[in-house]
Amino acid sequence: MPVIAAKRTLRSHPSSPPRKSPRRCLAATPKAIRFADENQPDPAAVKPKWNPKDGEQLKMVKLALHLSTAPSSVVCREEEQSVVLGFCKGCVEHQKAGSLYLCGCPGTGKSLSMEKVKEQLLNWATEAGLPGPDVLSLNCTTLANTSDIFTKILELNQPQGKKVSATPLQQLQNMYSQKSSMKKMTLIVADELDYLITKDRAVLHDLFMLTTFPFSRCILIGVANAIDLADRFLPRLTSLNCKPIVVNFRAYTKDQILKILEERLNELPYTVFQKQALELCARKVAAASGDMRNALCICRSAIEMLEAEIRESACNLNTSLEEKSLNLATSPDFIKKREFDVVRTDHMALTLSKTYRSPVVDTIQALPHHQQIILCSSMKHFLGAKKDTNLGELYKSYVELCKSSIIPPAGFLGILEFSNMCRVLNDQGLIKLGQAREDKLRRVSPKVDEGDITFALQGIRFFQNCLK
Ligand SMILES: Nc1ncnc2c1ncn2[C@@H]1O[C@H](COP(=O)(O)OP(=O)(O)O)[C@@H](O)[C@H]1O
Ligand SMILES: [Mg+2]
Repeated sequence: MPVIAAKRTLRSHPSSPPRKSPRRCLAATPKAIRFADENQPDPAAVKPKWNPKDGEQLKMVKLALHLSTAPSSVVCREEEQSVVLGFCKGCVEHQKAGSLYLCGCPGTGKSLSMEKVKEQLLNWATEAGLPGPDVLSLNCTTLANTSDIFTKILELNQPQGKKVSATPLQQLQNMYSQKSSMKKMTLIVADELDYLITKDRAVLHDLFMLTTFPFSRCILIGVANAIDLADRFLPRLTSLNCKPIVVNFRAYTKDQILKILEERLNELPYTVFQKQALELCARKVAAASGDMRNALCICRSAIEMLEAEIRESACNLNTSLEEKSLNLATSPDFIKKREFDVVRTDHMALTLSKTYRSPVVDTIQALPHHQQIILCSSMKHFLGAKKDTNLGELYKSYVELCKSSIIPPAGFLGILEFSNMCRVLNDQGLIKLGQAREDKLRRVSPKVDEGDITFALQGIRFFQNCLK
């Protein structure tokens, strides 16, 4: 059974340990910032921590997070895969042609899911004693000429390639118009289908039309990144009576990204990331794009951040990411953390801020410490139903936050200084201050996204507890 030009080779880690059952996803937390439930088992307690100075471990970890490493299980796409698999099985079983159209933004697991479905389909056919389909997997961007797709399909059906004057498309159309003794179906997975559309729409229509011939044996799966593609070419296909079934791959949510990262890291026998660091990555990537490739790249970069830190401390520079943002090098808590060589939230926050630079985040990060505390307390205040408050109330929240942290009472701002600072924040467009006769009665409402505040402050240890 020929399988032509599979784009991705499936492989698993040569030394991966036996798989554990998938961990449950965290419940969705649409608004509030939530970190790992302290009552849940901490993965760090289950597995030993890794040693980032060990070259072999480093290599394995990076491999586990590499784009080209196909994971042994593709979580969070079970439904989509089951639709595609069910469709293909139906076509094979009833020797019926048909077409599916998978679409979604880049990095939503379309190609990966198709690889898994092909594997499952061939296994199922063998087990069911049915003739498995011939498979043609091709990435449309590799075609020199868009109509070459028909040559490739024809080659699969007639390996010798008889010399005839008709074009490959005409030959296929003739072939699928006549009854044949051939029982085998042909599964065509045309990835990056967008390419065919921009170059030549006729090719695309002819391709889908192949599934409508009376004796067609084509199971066509078109995979495309553009989400508006269906709107652009489906109306015409509908009028031609060959509208494919559309399977939409939605952008990954925060919980899905977290689960996928955890599943991939689960293949390793040690703990590499602090759970909060993975959560931070998942939250930011989900908010930005939902592209899994970005999440994986960011995790790898965060590891490099840890590597750089280790190199730095080895050079006796006596500085670290944390020391730079807070002068706490002598606190016992800090020393304890230095021994904890997993990738932490500060590594992740720094990586994310390099990847997704936003002017608001930059502004917040450049604020004096007390203004950051005011913003953080305002955010806590506005979480939930409250849309606004007054300056007096906000001052109380600010004092509470200071009290619950390492700031001594003498270090708190007085109400006058506080309201001056709020005025500065108002001028910078970070909060909105209303008018009132008395300062403490001035209304305060949020002006920036809560996610930007969290993101900007996440890497600073002072805020890690308050953001919980
Ligand atoms: N559900 C998933 N589980 C594990 N890894 C995933 C998953 N979805 C995506 N990935 C990773 O992200 C990469 C991009 O996914 P891919 O299937 O190529 O996206 P698309 O084809 O939608 O652009 C994959 O190579 C894979 O490493
Ligand atoms: Mg793809």
